[in-house]
Amino acid sequence: MTFEWTKKMQIDKGQIDTDHKELLSIANRVLKLNRPKRDAEELKHAIRELYDYVQDHFSREEALMQQWEYPELDAHHQKHDLIIREMNHCLTSSHHMGELLNNFRTLVNDWVIIHILEEDNKIRVFRESTVKARTKKD
Ligand SMILES: [Fe+2]
Repeated sequence: MTFEWTKKMQIDKGQIDTDHKELLSIANRVLKLNRPKRDAEELKHAIRELYDYVQDHFSREEALMQQWEYPELDAHHQKHDLIIREMNHCLTSSHHMGELLNNFRTLVNDWVIIHILEEDNKIRVFRESTVKARTKKD
């Protein structure tokens, strides 16, 4: 099983989509480490790489929301914080490889992908409505 970017996740046809695709491809690299001879440290290292990327991505996404004057920025920022905390929890609370991988899958599916489909999607809706309002004015 791999994580896949689908059209339903399309937000801005730009930076945000590029970031989300890269994020899922890093997540897939983590899954590939699930080989018979497992190495917990290697796996944790890969998850940490994703963790760093997610933080950078959240900063970029929030900068764009600010630039677009997105009204729900504060609430969205709090949701990002929650994901970061959940990622920390995943890294520190898993006691063995199987558990770490399971927690990781849940994290990407239930936290990251659902966040894109529900929360980030609101940015798309907002963007589309403001662009429409602007073209009407012109
Ligand atoms: Fe987001």
